[in-house]
Amino acid sequence: MYFKKNRLFIERVEALKVVKKFGTPTYCYSLEKLQNNIKNFQRSFKSINPLICFSVKSNSNLQILKEIKRSNMGADVVSKGEMMQALKAGISPKKIVFSGVGKKSEELKFAIEKKILLINAESESEIYEIERLAKLKKTIVDIGIRLNPNIDAKTLKKISTGRSEDKFGLTEKAFLNILKNFKGSNYIKVKCLSVHIGSQITDYKPYVKMINVLDKIIQKSNHFYDYVDLGGGMGIQYEKGTNLFNYKKYNVMIKKFLKKHNVKIIFEPGRSIIANTAVLLSQIIYIKNTAKKKFIILDAAMNDLMRPALYGSYHNIIPLLKNNKKNNKIHDFVGPVCETTDKFLSVKGFNYLKEKEYVAISDVGAYGMSLSSNYNLRPKASEVMIENKSSKVILKRQKLTNII
Ligand code: LLP
Repeated sequence: MYFKKNRLFIERVEALKVVKKFGTPTYCYSLEKLQNNIKNFQRSFKSINPLICFSVKSNSNLQILKEIKRSNMGADVVSKGEMMQALKAGISPKKIVFSGVGKKSEELKFAIEKKILLINAESESEIYEIERLAKLKKTIVDIGIRLNPNIDAKTLKKISTGRSEDKFGLTEKAFLNILKNFKGSNYIKVKCLSVHIGSQITDYKPYVKMINVLDKIIQKSNHFYDYVDLGGGMGIQYEKGTNLFNYKKYNVMIKKFLKKHNVKIIFEPGRSIIANTAVLLSQIIYIKNTAKKKFIILDAAMNDLMRPALYGSYHNIIPLLKNNKKNNKIHDFVGPVCETTDKFLSVKGFNYLKEKEYVAISDVGAYGMSLSSNYNLRPKASEVMIENKSSKVILKRQKLTNII
């Protein structure tokens, strides 16, 4: 993304052309950026040859998943719906892992029928349920068990998953007990030790702790694992000047771990692959001036992009047309939804804006469209993919007739 003669371009397409052609709000992705992110991720861990399972919850667009498949990646899914979408994109079941604390019987049955690589179980009851279903189907099911390592990932509290007070995974004690209980099972094979400590992690140190915990539990468990699934969580730079995740150090750490333990590593990245590949294009409906600030009222709202309202997360906003005039007032970029938290950003001073102009909300590829809803009965936005000079719809805008 760059400005040419003050006009915003995504690859070789002018953003203004995209909004004129497809309307707003529209999620607009760059294929080149996606391909580069995938290549960089693969290159960072090339020496350990991991299985990289894209976390579908971060973005479940079919065309994006097809690109994931083309790059030889697998999928990390958390529902039957995500599993179906990954399979529809052509991702091999042998590259699919299924996580989640509350998988229903029907979902587990589907996973077993499809013979996916691993069901990563998160409770003893779930494993009994998998065993019951496996017995019914007269088959053996490979599972992973998710450990709760009791580590603070030093990220937003609301997206931290690895502390003992979080609902995810099993404590070390429960984990070791389960290993013992299912050792002789004819229907369950524990093939994987899995863990995921949180999301948008920018410091590698929580991972150091995590790897140490894994090392210890493997030593204690007297069990041979084929896989260690390290989850995802690698953060991106939403805001200039913030920490960049150190892939090199993480890779070195894992290499050391692999010298002791002969396992295949699985990663489940979402955000690090897809977040910075997209912007949300939106039109300014009205500008309302008050004594203290300017409300820039957009046609995108919290139902389209929930992250700021839900987590107070930062997304930079840029105009589609830059000018050299600046207004120094506080600008609150808000949506039309009837909630005070329906606000994307508050900044002091911004490029001079007029009603009916357009802006782009940055880094929205992960947990943007996938977290969107029909709140206020607003139809969901469209998704457009840019590839060099071309732009095409990869998800049509929802019609009101679809939801009424
Ligand atoms: N694996 C598991 C088991 C997960 O729970 C998650 C994310 C991932 C992998 C992918 O993590 P990533 O690489 O994307 O950080 N809605 C929040 C993020 C929630 C993340 C949930 N789990 C947000 O918008 O920031």
